[in-house]
Amino acid sequence: MPGIETSTAWKTLAAHAERMKRTHLRDLLGDAARNSALSIKANGILFDFSRQNVNIETMDFLMDLAGAAMLEEKRAAMFSGEKINVTEGRAVLHVALRAERSATILVDGVNQVPLVHDVLDHIKDFSHRVLTGTFVGATGKSLKNIISIGIGGSYLGPEFVYEAIKCVPQAAEVAEGRTLRFLANVDPVDVARATKGLNPEETLVVVVSKTFTTAETMLNARTLRKWLLDGVKGTGPEEVIRRHMVAASSAVPLVTEFGIDSANVFGFWDWVGGRYSVCSAVGMLPLSLTFGFEILEQFLAGARNIDEHFATAPIRQNIPVLMGLLGIWNSTFLGHESRAILPYAQALLRFPAHVQQLDMESNGKRVGLDGQELPFQAGEVNFGEPGTNGQHSFYQLIHQGRTIPTEFIGFARSQYPVELPNEVVSSQDELMSNFFAQPDALALGKTLEQLDVEGVKEELRPHKTFPGNRPSFSLLFGQLDPFTTGQLLALYEHRVFVQGAIWGINSFDQWGVELGKVLAKQVRTQLTASRQGEKIISGFNSSTAAMLNFYLSNSSE
Ligand code: F6P
Repeated sequence: MPGIETSTAWKTLAAHAERMKRTHLRDLLGDAARNSALSIKANGILFDFSRQNVNIETMDFLMDLAGAAMLEEKRAAMFSGEKINVTEGRAVLHVALRAERSATILVDGVNQVPLVHDVLDHIKDFSHRVLTGTFVGATGKSLKNIISIGIGGSYLGPEFVYEAIKCVPQAAEVAEGRTLRFLANVDPVDVARATKGLNPEETLVVVVSKTFTTAETMLNARTLRKWLLDGVKGTGPEEVIRRHMVAASSAVPLVTEFGIDSANVFGFWDWVGGRYSVCSAVGMLPLSLTFGFEILEQFLAGARNIDEHFATAPIRQNIPVLMGLLGIWNSTFLGHESRAILPYAQALLRFPAHVQQLDMESNGKRVGLDGQELPFQAGEVNFGEPGTNGQHSFYQLIHQGRTIPTEFIGFARSQYPVELPNEVVSSQDELMSNFFAQPDALALGKTLEQLDVEGVKEELRPHKTFPGNRPSFSLLFGQLDPFTTGQLLALYEHRVFVQGAIWGINSFDQWGVELGKVLAKQVRTQLTASRQGEKIISGFNSSTAAMLNFYLSNSSE
């Protein structure tokens, strides 16, 4: 099948982009009819994309592009369990992780939904036993600390959700007196940070690894196994591991070989990609052990709510479809290679890091599904920070330096309202004043004429001019709670799908991370040999050899 770049829709958009590059958001935003057409309300969310460099015609052309790329057919293929991850021969079914118990989604003729609910029931039961003190540590102490070991998709999503909901009163109440820490990096300092101040007798370690082979995770798992065995006395090692280590993994034989009781392995399936695994045991297990399962059910319901919207809403009214098409427009047609994710909610501080992996590991590809090199760049650089912190950091570049499409995420009500009797403005209103002001500052900018009227000194005017015309969109929700956290997760997951489907790439493999792992193994082998007295470093180019020798000669005091 010819690439999407050969389609009429693509060529029309490319020509149209040249015209749109000559428009300014100052003028586009002057058209109230246009603005109202570029703002939709669905599922309790307001999605305003009137500050994109688009007009109604652009949206028509983007809809044509979706048709040419067969987006709706591809979406249906994903939801029905077709093996769309062609390089690994797998279905892509993160939507099944939050499907209703009564749903049917077949893979190789087997309904996957009951399997999902069996694991969810197991998590519910186990976390209830831990939270109520029925399942206790080897010395009879309640397990009030959880350390979740995992990296990449086995870490970033769960940490984002943990931070997003930990101050929600219902969650905070269950988690009172409990600790959840994540151990991701193999840097020994991360082990110290994760275990600092915790009593092993009161700690349950959750090893989260789809493959159960990831080098960093397995070394950290062995390190914490030793920490437990050293710290929990008076009982045999098998009992310590049985009582203090559990796992979320799709490689059950490897988990039991490690010593973890098969009754305490929470499985998932090859159709769950690591970066799409938050709703599997990967996220549900550690989070449920901390907040209780009921709260997590609300989170799953939020994700399901957006799955239904994505699957059924007309594409012109479909938020993830629109987000994805605008991503294509900005990056491929207007040439903006980055985008900034700016949640005006401190509880979303780890959301940009999650999106970084979700999006960049999925769509950072160089060939199409047919293996042919793409004649355009796929994927964007994603970064971000919560507002208003980011405003005092990198927004300068966005206002007056490069053009970076920005994504504002805000909430009408705070999770944690603070009112001071003598303050006129609440903290939430102060925060959100910035949420509403920044998109206009970026879009409208400030002209020389305005500076003239303000009486700004002539020599300062170039420095104080803001060109404007910086695109953004705004997502406004009611409140950040477990349900809306699930909605947000699913919106961004499906946006990635939409962009991958239009570009014609496989968003669900990640061969690009393998080479580094292979090379690290070669280095590791030589470092080990060298530590054992064999001092010769060989087989590397002179630069790497010199760095390795410097490292070795400086690694002992
Ligand atoms: O190296 C990248 C990666 O494969 C991610 O895709 C994945 O989320 C992460 O490593 C962790 O993998 P696992 O869950 O198998 O330990």
